[in-house]
Amino acid sequence: MKILVTGGAGFIASHVVDAYINLGHEVVVVDNLSSGNKNNLNQKAKFIEADITDKEKIQEIIKAEKPEIINHHAAHIQVGYSVKNPQFDAENNIIGLLNIMEAAKEIPIKKVIMAATGGAMYGNKVTPFNEEMKAEPLSPYGISKRAGELYLNYYHELYKIPFISLRYSNVYGPRQNPHGESGVIAIFSEMMSEGKIPSINGDGTHTRDYVYVEDVAKANVLALESDFVGELNIGTTTEISTNEVFRKVAAEMEIEVEEKHIAERPGEQETSSLDYSKAKKILGWEPTINFDEGVRRVVTWYKNK
Ligand SMILES: NC(=O)c1ccc[n+]([C@@H]2O[C@H](COP(=O)([O-])OP(=O)(O)OC[C@H]3O[C@@H](n4cnc5c(N)ncnc54)[C@H](O)[C@@H]3O)[C@@H](O)[C@H]2O)c1
Repeated sequence: MKILVTGGAGFIASHVVDAYINLGHEVVVVDNLSSGNKNNLNQKAKFIEADITDKEKIQEIIKAEKPEIINHHAAHIQVGYSVKNPQFDAENNIIGLLNIMEAAKEIPIKKVIMAATGGAMYGNKVTPFNEEMKAEPLSPYGISKRAGELYLNYYHELYKIPFISLRYSNVYGPRQNPHGESGVIAIFSEMMSEGKIPSINGDGTHTRDYVYVEDVAKANVLALESDFVGELNIGTTTEISTNEVFRKVAAEMEIEVEEKHIAERPGEQETSSLDYSKAKKILGWEPTINFDEGVRRVVTWYKNK
């Protein structure tokens, strides 16, 4: 199939592109390289440098390429920055999606797959979060991702374009940007591999659900063939504290590092984990790479970089 992947020079979508190309699909990547990197691009994919907020350009690309599937990963992903500049977040995550969908409705598209958030979707509820829980995002980033899902539902109702929104927990793996505000495994791994001591926000007891990027890519593969329309959590249901992440990365690096704590970031959720039983039932998806193995692979990648 011909698949257009937005954000394919970034961390997660570059793994999705690799998985699609390994299966023999034809892939076109659209990315503005704002946080993505040309080194992440699969050589067998066609690359078009473009910004999804550029309405004319995006519509021109989609109408010319006529993909059967659009896999939409391009987004502004920093929750903290979305609080400082919600207009920028909405411009990329809402208007960018609308530019894509207004072009998609003019071509015979089979499906849209979108990367959404599970961690920032449900608000402060008892974990694990499931899809039946009310979406109550507490940040502009979470709100723009939920708005994206509602727009996809609108395009499905009105134009019969099927969609699957994959609500990821905290994704980690090789190629993750270690200089962002999230991605603690990448941040700790890069700093420790350079002999620096990372700081832990707060007392380090906050927990997150870490899902390995290859498992996430697999969900994007399974989503190609499914008739399901709607939202699916992609996570592990396992909660890992920041202290555990710190200790695991240090152990895999084979170094002894003293734990240094700094003030907690205001507004941080204490816990987060996703119930993935719906994705298991519908897609036959489940995580296969556990935390220990995943961190081992990330650390090996950093050591060989
Ligand atoms: N990393 C996670 O834990 C996580 C969790 C939930 C959801 N997601 C979602 O997954 C997707 C990919 O995230 P990631 O972690 O790989 O981040 P990333 O920053 O590595 O990837 C985003 C890609 O989109 C590109 N991009 C950004 N704005 C663009 C624009 N206006 N036009 C064209 N390209 C643009 C960037 O250059 C980059 O290559 C995002 O939609 C994100 O919201 C990520």
